[in-house]
Amino acid sequence: MFLRRVTPSVFLILITFLCSAVLAAEDSDQSPFAVLSVDAPRPSQHVMGWVDSREVLSLNGSWKFLVDPMQVGTPGSLFGGWATTRVPEDEYQLLEYSYANAADIRVPGDFNTQFDELLYYRDTVWYQRHFDIDLSKQGRYHLWFGGANYKTTVYLNGQAVAHQSGGYVPFSIDVTDYLLLKDNDLIVQVNNRLDADTVPTERTDWWPYGGLTRDVMLVHTPEAYIVNASVQLDDDLSTVAGHVQTYGMSAGEEVVISLPEIDVSAITQTDDSGVARFKFEASLDQWSPSNPKLYEVQIASDSDQISDRLGFRTIAVEGTQIFLNGEPIRFRGISTHEEPIGRDGVAYSRADMDALFGEAKQLGVNFVRAAHYPYSRHAAKAADEMGLLLWEEVPIYWNINWENPETLRIARDQVARLVQRDWNRASVVVWSVANETTYSEPRMAFLNRLIQDVRELDDTRLVSAALLGDTRRELQHVVTYLAANGLASDIPSDREKRIFQQVINAAGDNAPRRNSSFNLLITDPLGELVDLVSYNEYFGWYYSRFIADQTGVSERTIRLLMLELMPKVTLASAFDKPMFISEFGAGAKAGKRGEGVRTEDYQANVYRAQFEMIANSPQVQGMTPWILKDFRAMLRSLGGVQDFRNRKGLIDENGRRKQAFYVLRDFYAGDWGRQ
Ligand code: GCU
Repeated sequence: MFLRRVTPSVFLILITFLCSAVLAAEDSDQSPFAVLSVDAPRPSQHVMGWVDSREVLSLNGSWKFLVDPMQVGTPGSLFGGWATTRVPEDEYQLLEYSYANAADIRVPGDFNTQFDELLYYRDTVWYQRHFDIDLSKQGRYHLWFGGANYKTTVYLNGQAVAHQSGGYVPFSIDVTDYLLLKDNDLIVQVNNRLDADTVPTERTDWWPYGGLTRDVMLVHTPEAYIVNASVQLDDDLSTVAGHVQTYGMSAGEEVVISLPEIDVSAITQTDDSGVARFKFEASLDQWSPSNPKLYEVQIASDSDQISDRLGFRTIAVEGTQIFLNGEPIRFRGISTHEEPIGRDGVAYSRADMDALFGEAKQLGVNFVRAAHYPYSRHAAKAADEMGLLLWEEVPIYWNINWENPETLRIARDQVARLVQRDWNRASVVVWSVANETTYSEPRMAFLNRLIQDVRELDDTRLVSAALLGDTRRELQHVVTYLAANGLASDIPSDREKRIFQQVINAAGDNAPRRNSSFNLLITDPLGELVDLVSYNEYFGWYYSRFIADQTGVSERTIRLLMLELMPKVTLASAFDKPMFISEFGAGAKAGKRGEGVRTEDYQANVYRAQFEMIANSPQVQGMTPWILKDFRAMLRSLGGVQDFRNRKGLIDENGRRKQAFYVLRDFYAGDWGRQ
């Protein structure tokens, strides 16, 4: 028993210690273990761009790592203070944590898949490392994070220098005034817990990978420096225009933008707010998937210079057509999650994205939907070089709290940071502000705000959102078509045909004729606000079980009839805009063959039936089937088949291709794809 071994003097110390702690807590009317958040500044809204041309100290590599399931490490909490690296001065100093003998962890990368016991962990962790810096160089030093999931507080030499809520997007802090020459103590607290007010909420069909999931670096700039710049090709295909954001420069300072390869440069000046606008003529080889031409672009002021390799192209919609560089184009695409092939956890490197997008290219795609959140900066850079068009999106997913101001602030921050990071990426042609959100007035107001934010930051790309149909109305409609076709088919049993006859009788004059086509119409008012009307539909997969439950007809009959009906379905929207199928698909365990769901054969048959639907639908100008690769998802527990992975991939987590991979590749090589 613990107490028997405690000597009276230690016992006395223990009681005194706890009493003083409780008294202290009573003074501050907080429990001694209260989870205290510290005050720390939010990072600047202006995203530091063009970082790969900067002089940086990479802070990637091995860090020390502590798990804090009761959030006791926050400074001010009873056992808190983990925000500084301390070692006991002698054997009498009582510490409740130590980085010295903590675990090692790789940065970047999620923590969930670096420790088996943390795979499902959704709470607080602490990262720690030291670094030296040569402070003889004048200028400013900025701690730059490619992204951290989900709530992050950064401490440098014991000072809370930044707090960021929201994963996936970059943020940086000027830490010049906190730096030491040697042994800078950098500690980062990250919590990947999500709830009803976060963005996304705790309900997602992807893994809540947490931690320092992206690159970390210390960026050096002059005292007066260039923060970011947007460089775009105008619709006339011969004018380059944009603006340069600076810090510490007064009005009238000269800024030069140049493209050495074509010996063109333009001179401009900063205005009162430090912004320098420019517009100049240039004869450029336009970027496209078949010709991913990139130019070195240099931007210089008296004190600073940045550079990047940029493609120049235009993207526009007119009526129900999409135009790239003035030519009609169809988006032959595939959806992805940010997971590497053959390694567990998040994708975080250029090599990861080259491999993932390289496999997508094997399908013959010209387009990738990078679902459902901003990927690392390496994704769009890889797509620029590989000639892939990209849809990038923010995680406004399913059941967002539309009426919480802090939720809106975080959502707007996600949009602003993503756009400012990638607004020069030729590959990025679509910004998406939502996925499968049901209609309500608060939802419309929230998304309208995000769409306005996007267009104010960058009006050169298309705006979209992956919409849901009016599923209940559609399904009632589908049932009558299934009944009409079922009565003339030899698939249903006599009992089932009697049920179908009752459905037809109940439909009366509205009963469809056998073999008539079924037109599905998207009418979501959000269609008015976007450029591309995108729609997630799962004909051949989800609806069948619901219809079987509702009608008492077997799911097998419904599925087989559905696959027969799909070629008679047309998809359209109530808006004179291009339509885009942002998701369709079916699950399959790689290697499982034969009849029935979750086989490769069934998945391939759903794809074949989907292609007939899409080929019947002239408004549809693109699609990104769900999904390239099987991915981790807590929603998908079916033992022996899913094992907490969503298996709608065309390849499994190790890159093993399923039959449907080849079915999609052949379709894209055909007429529809070649349009
Ligand atoms: C939804 C959702 C995806 C999800 C997919 C599925 O449409 O957008 O995030 O993974 O369907 O059910 O597999």
